[in-house]
Amino acid sequence: MKIRTLFVGLVAATFSAIAMAQAPIVIKFSHVVAADTPKGNASVFFAKRAGELTKGKVKVEVYANSALYKDKEEMEALQLGAVQMLAPSLAKFGPLGVKEFEVFDFPYIFDNTAELHRVTQGPIGASLLAKLEPRGIKGLAFWDNGFKSFSANTPIRTPADLKGKKLRIQSSKVLEEEIRAVGGLPQVMAFSEVYQALQTGVVDGTENPISNLYTQKMHEVQKYLTLTEHGYLGYAVVVNKKFWEGLPADIRGQLEQAMKEATAYANKIAQEENDLALEGVKKSGKTTVYVPTSAEKLAFKKAMAVVHVKMADRVGKDLLQSIYKETGGFDPSKL
Ligand code: LMR
Repeated sequence: MKIRTLFVGLVAATFSAIAMAQAPIVIKFSHVVAADTPKGNASVFFAKRAGELTKGKVKVEVYANSALYKDKEEMEALQLGAVQMLAPSLAKFGPLGVKEFEVFDFPYIFDNTAELHRVTQGPIGASLLAKLEPRGIKGLAFWDNGFKSFSANTPIRTPADLKGKKLRIQSSKVLEEEIRAVGGLPQVMAFSEVYQALQTGVVDGTENPISNLYTQKMHEVQKYLTLTEHGYLGYAVVVNKKFWEGLPADIRGQLEQAMKEATAYANKIAQEENDLALEGVKKSGKTTVYVPTSAEKLAFKKAMAVVHVKMADRVGKDLLQSIYKETGGFDPSKL
């Protein structure tokens, strides 16, 4: 009897050891936006390719819409290893102490996506990602979203229209200065709380790429949207460094390949999704969409130019100059 029990126990232990050996490595990928956004779709694409390329040895679980963690919490969860992968917007790395990422928040610093890519896909981008490593974070890639525009419940034609307005922003000192430059009152708030804050009047307006505005239904609680396109919002895909470096080299290589493909995909769909979202906003009839004239846009650029002076030291003058070199410089008198 005793021998039989021992035998059964041994068999069970062997089976569970085999099961454990075959259990996939799980990567929890948490983010705060809706599934049907550039980031949401790119993360699902990555999950699919990671599964295929590793032949099921890695399972990427994507948690959208702050289902697991809100903005600040997700960064802490990554460092603690409670999740393995995130794609926070570049504006959210300042509180971690990596202030250089806020250079992406400088108003009108990129005139178009080609200029942006010269930075994110080149040596400057690589050196920025390397700055995350002392924080236990490894940067894998930059993913696009798009250019932000202002919305509010009152029309926005000139910077003066934002005077005295409480405007929700992400956790970036550069964005705080941007809002102050137009006379507004910056209100830092987690993305998951913005809809309700707009609905209840806790804030008067906000700034977003249209895909974020539309998929959170913010256009239902904002009467006016003006396509100022005054700043960029994009992402750094990051992993817990210890986890990443502890992966078997072949699997890490396959995941790098999956990330390369997901990055190409993300950057291909971002503009398309923002265009579709704008169509959706227009069709809804709930928000009046205003396309500013060049002169009107220039007035926003002029009003916000002071941010480039005031915040240069925060991000580092050398970094700022190296970005100007890639983009052709910042001229506040021209669009
Ligand atoms: C925001 O908080 O507005 C954005 O960072 C959300 C996102 O991840 O696109």
